[in-house]
Amino acid sequence: MKNYLLFSGSSNRPLSEKVAKLLDIPLGKVDLTRFADGEIRPWIQEDVRDKTVFVLQSFSYDMDDHIMELCLMGDAIRRSAPKHMIAVIPYMGYARQDKQHRSGEPVSARVIAKFLEVSKFKEIITIDLHNEAIVGFFQVPVMHLSAFPLLAEEVKKLHLSNMVVVAPDVGGVKRARNLAYTLDVPMAVMEKKRFLDRHDQTETFQIIGEVKGKSVIIIDDVISSGSTIINGTASLKREGALSVTVLATHAVCAGDAFDQLSRSQIDHLLLTDTIDWSGKTLPPFVTFTSVASHIADSISTIIR
Ligand code: R5P
Repeated sequence: MKNYLLFSGSSNRPLSEKVAKLLDIPLGKVDLTRFADGEIRPWIQEDVRDKTVFVLQSFSYDMDDHIMELCLMGDAIRRSAPKHMIAVIPYMGYARQDKQHRSGEPVSARVIAKFLEVSKFKEIITIDLHNEAIVGFFQVPVMHLSAFPLLAEEVKKLHLSNMVVVAPDVGGVKRARNLAYTLDVPMAVMEKKRFLDRHDQTETFQIIGEVKGKSVIIIDDVISSGSTIINGTASLKREGALSVTVLATHAVCAGDAFDQLSRSQIDHLLLTDTIDWSGKTLPPFVTFTSVASHIADSISTIIR
């Protein structure tokens, strides 16, 4: 009998099932219902006493509901005296609000960290935070995983010639540099401006580095509206890029982003399943790689 349990929130059950299968355990039973007024009411139906308990929940759309559901599941579990309780958050939403971009705004990522601690999660496992410094917002240990090595392996399978890795903005230079080292190719940087008064709109100003005649690989943590990579790809193609392959861990793809991406000049879009898109019809140039084995390996390290 295993002395740990894995519960799934409602945001990404297919990923939770994959992780449970790799660990060779059934998912913990939990009844996730709502009252008529919309209040979330989780009901844990397992004996968690003295067990190490993992709860997997991505902060995808409807993000606030998913955060609330995780916090309430945490509170329900901790009331039955588990040994240790760990939140597995493949995609941590609000991470892009990691600083006050202008006076009068919150530092939302820190608020989320506090919510999780108040719910008595004693450890967090997460993947490709928008900014590594967010780890410092937590008082509890954070196991910060990266899907970029997985995505780099997928790029290699495309057998592209004359590659260059491009950071979509100055904030993404470190990620691009690491991937460029891994693939042993040069890198370039795009200068992006985000309009604070027009949410989700970006503009690429200039490209620093050589992209003409090259197979460009853009690497990013999140695709939300798609604006960054759609505009970036258009600029790269105008500068003579041969093809553009985009790698991103978190396919937030809000609203009609996939429609916009279908109409873009992107040649390949390599994503992961930190956010659930199973069962949806997506453009043919989109490929998903699973982070399930990364998560299962991390859980195994904790319970061994
Ligand atoms: C920004 O700093 C991030 O790394 C992403 O580039 C950005 O969040 C993507 O957002 P969107 O798809 O809306 O341009």
